Amino acid sequence: MSYITLALAKGRTAKSSISLLKNIDIHFPGFHEESRKLVFYDKEEKIKLVFVKAVDVPTYVEKGAADIGIVGKDNILESQADVYEMLDLKLGKCKFVVAGKSQQLEEKQKLTIASKYPVIAIKHFQKKGQSIETVKLNGSVELAPLIGLADYIVDIVETGNTINENGLTIIEEIEDISTRLIVNKASFATKSENIRQFINSLKSGLE
Ligand code: PRP
Ligand code: MG
Repeated sequence: MSYITLALAKGRTAKSSISLLKNIDIHFPGFHEESRKLVFYDKEEKIKLVFVKAVDVPTYVEKGAADIGIVGKDNILESQADVYEMLDLKLGKCKFVVAGKSQQLEEKQKLTIASKYPVIAIKHFQKKGQSIETVKLNGSVELAPLIGLADYIVDIVETGNTINENGLTIIEEIEDISTRLIVNKASFATKSENIRQFINSLKSGLE
């Protein structure tokens, strides 16, 4: 019996991802939001669902621990994982921005940027020829400029509430983000029929 292992990001977009699967008739009978279980099988035992931290989904897929993954573009970019990105699921739409206390970046030889996404931050400022030092944080990034830990932040904005409520301003927009379907490169060859079928039904579910 050959099933596809699907790594799904826990958290914000989990519920809408599960609904999307439901729309294409893939049901996980044991799944409910409060469950602490991390592994589920769909009714027809075609798919094994594993719930992992969003930031780890690209790693599971790159290493082949999962054949496919559903995760935000933010984590795909930051991980630099060597995977195929096959589909934009258009869930969890938001964007990467540079934000700070001022309307524009100050002219300084080296800026200190706090972020959960140092790779993204470095790439963005490299393109502009601005040298930076990064401070890696794991959350509440908006606090960093307020408390003098960094000059600016690179973070995600969805509604804008968090930056607004903390008196920060968007200075630059970096890139749009949404949930994507990624595929392990070897699995795409060995389980090609199952994976293609899955992708095609997801595609039609999105239409
Ligand atoms: C995310 C992100 C922003 C906020 C954006 O943080 O890092 O802070 O959401 O959403 P908004 O524009 O709708 O306010 P999250 O809530 O995941 O918390 P964390 O950064 O502390 O992990
Ligand atoms: Mg945050």
